[in-house]
Amino acid sequence: MFNKFRLGKKQEHSSTLRDKIEELKKQPIPEHVAIIMDGNGRWAKKRALPRVAGHHEGMKVVRKTTMLANKLGIKALTLYAFSTENWKRPKNEVEYIMRLPEEFLGTFLPELVENNVQVKMIGYKNQLPVHTLHAIEKAIEETKDNNGLVLNFALNYGSRAEIIDAVKQVLNDSKNGILNETDLNEDIFSSYLMTSEFKDPDLLIRTSGEIRLSNFMLWQLAYSEFWFTDVLWPDFSENHLLEAIEVFQKRQRRFGGIL
Ligand code: IPE
Ligand code: IPE
Ligand code: MG
Repeated sequence: MFNKFRLGKKQEHSSTLRDKIEELKKQPIPEHVAIIMDGNGRWAKKRALPRVAGHHEGMKVVRKTTMLANKLGIKALTLYAFSTENWKRPKNEVEYIMRLPEEFLGTFLPELVENNVQVKMIGYKNQLPVHTLHAIEKAIEETKDNNGLVLNFALNYGSRAEIIDAVKQVLNDSKNGILNETDLNEDIFSSYLMTSEFKDPDLLIRTSGEIRLSNFMLWQLAYSEFWFTDVLWPDFSENHLLEAIEVFQKRQRRFGGIL
């Protein structure tokens, strides 16, 4: 029913937005931004629409956010799209969400290719419906030679499960003589996580007014800057991302030291 909604025309930024982007680029831009895209259901409820309408609207925001992140020179954008706990939701909602990658990438993949974006994914692939995985894998394959923004979908991702799996692999490698227990350190442990190729997020954004992590990147967010907003994900605009980055640029990151 919502498939008739178009994703919108090619992105053009207004001159005020362009000025703001240029202003922010004078200072360091966070290299890895992670977003917990929350509030789709409440957005729909407010409009007396079914929850899935919020997910559909949220997908358009993914596109706008990706394009802006690319323009800003952000190197990696990780988007929490579905958690290992989200399977608890009604079947029709889960099925709808699992159709979104096909729809989103079906429309948007050429634009990602054209804009030098690389698509990646973290999360448990084996439980995803085949059609969902195909859409993602096609996008990963078609964008693998790009070297611009990495658009990383956290899909069926859960941080505790990720950590347990890493521990299992460490134990296994230790048993097989691949890893010495005495060599294990934070960097090596990180290399066993699904995020091994990413630096830890510099900035975490969560929308919808919830102040929690909901099992997202518990290890990786140890020293990230957090920015929470009451705005619901489908209402998240370019200006909100720019605001988050502006706040980030004013923060003093000490990593336990002193300045
Ligand atoms: C976030 O929006 C999207 C997913 C978790 C898939 P929600 O669906 O959690 O929206 P709320 O929190 O119920 O408003
Ligand atoms: C976190 O949102 C997961 C995603 C945004 C994909 P939830 O809506 O699932 O989190 P809780 O249940 O409110 O903690
Ligand atoms: Mg939610």
